[in-house]
Amino acid sequence: MSIVPSCAPLLFFDSGIGGLSVLKAVKAVLPKAPIVFVADYAGLPYGTKTEAEISARVPALLGRLVERYQPRLVTIACNTACTIALSHVRAALDVPVVGTVPAIKPASEATQSGVIGLLGTAATVRQIYVDKLHANHAPHMTLLRHAAPELVSAAEAKMRGEPVDPAVYARAMAGLTDQQKGEQLDVTVLGCTHFPLVEDELRAAAPHMTFVDGAAGIARRMCHLTKDQTWPEYPDEHTFITTGPVAAVNTLLPALSGFGLTRIRSL
Ligand code: DGL
Repeated sequence: MSIVPSCAPLLFFDSGIGGLSVLKAVKAVLPKAPIVFVADYAGLPYGTKTEAEISARVPALLGRLVERYQPRLVTIACNTACTIALSHVRAALDVPVVGTVPAIKPASEATQSGVIGLLGTAATVRQIYVDKLHANHAPHMTLLRHAAPELVSAAEAKMRGEPVDPAVYARAMAGLTDQQKGEQLDVTVLGCTHFPLVEDELRAAAPHMTFVDGAAGIARRMCHLTKDQTWPEYPDEHTFITTGPVAAVNTLLPALSGFGLTRIRSL
């Protein structure tokens, strides 16, 4: 078994800033981990792309990134990429890959009514992967699905300090509650990593709803996979990579520095 160097980073990958919701949970349990966070801004949004586009783009990009940054572990902090391309990525890389998929299992344990909601991207909510999560973890429950691409833009805008019309959040929740059985909905899965970044706003639009996401489970999994490994005593600054121009992330710098992501690079 090869020894993992203590400076080897954890590599987070998303189409944009959404992966920060996963990074937050991971930093809480692995505070010494060096981080490389990749936002594929040249490809954002993933939610409107086809399965073929995602399956071609994500493994190829991750192949380049792994070669360049030699991470000990890759986390695809994007439900859209994972529900479509997780197996392709795992087949293409020789490092462990942790995926982010809609937290239907925890939602099935939290619901009282047996009616669960799923907010995700258009690409995620139509995936067979989601049908399987439903069949495996909540077979006797109703799963209402709603694609809420507006929430991706809202989360991006919020992290840039830009104003967002609160009607966006009310519309997203109405997309679930207006469906048949929607009045019984008590637990909503935030099935896109951008959405926990606007959870407070969603809660304001639906005060009695319980929201769940997969970040804590991913953090536990990453702790487990790295449990015998060492970390640097004094980690270097963390790295943020964009596939777009660096100048286009200027307004994100305050949010990124809150996560220690101060070394900004373009791929
Ligand atoms: N953050 C991504 C997800 O978890 C997708 C956002 C997008 O690019 O549409 O699905």
